[in-house]
Amino acid sequence: MNAPIIIGKATLHNMDCMAFMATLPDKAFDLAIVDPPYGIGEDKTTRPSRGRTLTTPHQSKEWDKKPPSKEYFHELMRVSSNQIVWGANHFMQNIAIGSPCWIVWDKQTAGNNADCELAFTSLKTAVRKFTFMWEGFWQGDMKNKEARIHPTQKPVKLYEWLLTNYAKPGQRILDTHLGSGSSAIAAHNLGFDFVGVELDKSYFDAAVERINNHTAQLRMFDEPIKQKDDRRGKRTHSNNDLRRRNIRKGSNCLC
Ligand SMILES: C[S@@+](CC[C@H](N)C(=O)[O-])C[C@H]1O[C@@H](n2cnc3c(N)ncnc32)[C@H](O)[C@@H]1O
Repeated sequence: MNAPIIIGKATLHNMDCMAFMATLPDKAFDLAIVDPPYGIGEDKTTRPSRGRTLTTPHQSKEWDKKPPSKEYFHELMRVSSNQIVWGANHFMQNIAIGSPCWIVWDKQTAGNNADCELAFTSLKTAVRKFTFMWEGFWQGDMKNKEARIHPTQKPVKLYEWLLTNYAKPGQRILDTHLGSGSSAIAAHNLGFDFVGVELDKSYFDAAVERINNHTAQLRMFDEPIKQKDDRRGKRTHSNNDLRRRNIRKGSNCLC
């Protein structure tokens, strides 16, 4: 096992997630938010719906040939108390338990790709929808556009919304298929302890670089943020409190 990379409260492993989970005790994590291979060939640059829209071309890989096995989900449910699993409509037979609480991400596409992505959850609340445009050049927040470094990258905003709505402060978060590191960036922004695992070395290195750049940039601006009313002796809000509140309100601003 390579030594993990530690960035703030994130620990990142470049290895197979099954080998990593085998080292964990039961319920080591409060919430697993995972985006495994769907088994639909999205790792190919030649796939027109994806290849055309990427910021930089990506090398074709072979990781999206088949979805995770029943054994993967068995392990995931052993090591985490709750799970959010993207793409589960493609491999529900391997999860094999029902859920009242699916999550719908409406990508506001122009019809070239799927309109929405679906996540199975082990949670007991109602179906919820997150709307955020993610269609090639177009992103829901054009002022803070994210560079696309991975062929199936999900937006940081999606992970921030999930963490804000489905995780409690202080909980430990696991992502077994880190990809571009969007989940790690969201966890960092909101102050969660996070562990990410990625098998592919070049994706892993690119994610580490992206997370490092992001956290370095935040550190430059991360002097404690004072609310106007602090001077009158009222409560001081941490940066994470303010981020959480703004994500609920649908804004990414710390002001
Ligand atoms: C759908 S992508 C994840 C994309 C990610 N959610 C993002 O926003 O960038 C799945 C990732 O899982 C990785 N992967 C595939 N099999 C794996 C395994 N057994 N263990 C760890 N990572 C794996 C692939 O290399 C790929 O980067």
